[in-house]
Amino acid sequence: MKALSVIVLAGGLGKRMRSGLPKVLHPICGVPMGRYPLESAKSLKPERIVILVGHHAERVKEAFKGEPVGFAHQPEQLGTGDAVAHAMKLLDGFKGDVLVLSGDVPLVTTTTLKALVRFHRKEKGAVTFISIILDEPTGYGRVLRDEEGRVCAIVEEKDLKGHERALNEVNAGIYVFDAEFLRENITRLSRNNKQGEYYLTDLIGIAIERGYRVAALTHTEPQEVMGVNTRVELAEAERLMQQRILQGLMLSGVTIKDPSNTYIDYGVRVGRDTTIHPCVYLYGDTRIGRGCTIEEGVKVKDSRIGDGTTIKSFTVIEDSRIGKNVTIGPFARLRPECRIDDNVRIGNFVEVKKSHIKEGSKANHHSYLGDATIGKGVNIGAGTITCNYDGRKKHRTIIKDGAFIGSDTQLVAPVTVGKGAYIGAGSTITKDVPDGALSLSRPEQKIIKGWVKRRMES
Ligand code: UD1
Ligand code: CA
Repeated sequence: MKALSVIVLAGGLGKRMRSGLPKVLHPICGVPMGRYPLESAKSLKPERIVILVGHHAERVKEAFKGEPVGFAHQPEQLGTGDAVAHAMKLLDGFKGDVLVLSGDVPLVTTTTLKALVRFHRKEKGAVTFISIILDEPTGYGRVLRDEEGRVCAIVEEKDLKGHERALNEVNAGIYVFDAEFLRENITRLSRNNKQGEYYLTDLIGIAIERGYRVAALTHTEPQEVMGVNTRVELAEAERLMQQRILQGLMLSGVTIKDPSNTYIDYGVRVGRDTTIHPCVYLYGDTRIGRGCTIEEGVKVKDSRIGDGTTIKSFTVIEDSRIGKNVTIGPFARLRPECRIDDNVRIGNFVEVKKSHIKEGSKANHHSYLGDATIGKGVNIGAGTITCNYDGRKKHRTIIKDGAFIGSDTQLVAPVTVGKGAYIGAGSTITKDVPDGALSLSRPEQKIIKGWVKRRMES
């Protein structure tokens, strides 16, 4: 079997995006667009992957650092032909097939790429590319064929003449080249065209002229090979990728009530028999366990949620770890660095930040728990507030196992409430409370008998 290497072109500026961010770094479903062709490349297990960088090279390299790739640098963006010529420097001496992918064609699947490589090898050509028939071919290079239907050239949109404008078979920008053909002929490209660029696509005509075999694999799924050149196309690619992610999850056993109103990033994992209600957003590095219920309007980012947990409506969770069989919300907010252990209940209008709440504890209504360590089986009454900030520094509140915090309590940190201790409702606690003690701080209640009647009479 011939060896395979992959080049991912990511050097262009993406002028039509009108952006300060290089095009391949524009996110689609939470990851840079260029990540998709890279992942497809990886799944083909090639000998080598080269990412060709140019514009904002450092930012692109940073985004893909740690990946098993080599970076080739294109000093000036003189076109796709020039880009591949620079990438080939990292494939010096490589014999075999070179798959060239565009960083801005994110929806192409591994299945399609495998089919392309197989077709190229069967055809024994010098170059094989993917073409597609489009109703609206504007913007793409067109495939020119002779009377017998054989490919003769690819002509870029801006260089089309007369009747060629009506051609609707387009070049998808995905090619397999024989490495030796590529190395030998890439030097023959010229800038003699409307854009003054070295066009990789001119290699098709060059191959034909020089008597090499060229083949086109005509693909039937236009969406898969769409290029993202504008933000309109970016939104379309996002929609299609989102659909694909959701379908993958549904086929793996997740119920998604309304796939047209559910937003899940690439790479988010969701366990079987979890149900996701409408308007849910699952972002970043998030994993949801099995048998969970994620209700309407929930947003979860960079978090872990254990099996059997229910996140009720309109709850926001960020950078936190939540155990099994937990109930959170509705209308709860978990800010970064929370650890919520199994069987905890967090109710409506509770905000938690940088706190650890241990097994079986409850904070069911209207509380702020920040910088706190809350033991097992603790009850936090409605309106409890950890006063963690003194205007300069943050301080911790420690509440030990089995403690009971009455409603409307302020715990002025640093402060510790001992094991099984009770805090009377309406207290402001500034001193540590020993294990098993009752502590309360409120003026004694007065009762003035007959006061109302006397007032009426006066
Ligand atoms: C290219 C094809 C066109 C095809 C279309 C499919 C050429 C000349 N044209 O056009 O036939 O229909 O893709 O999507 O190849 N790049 C560099 N350095 C450069 C120029 C581009 O790295 O100097 C990279 C870009 O970052 C991008 C890719 O190459 O990832 C394609 O470049 P782009 O300018 O988008 O080409 P198109 O005009 O879309
Ligand atoms: Ca493009």
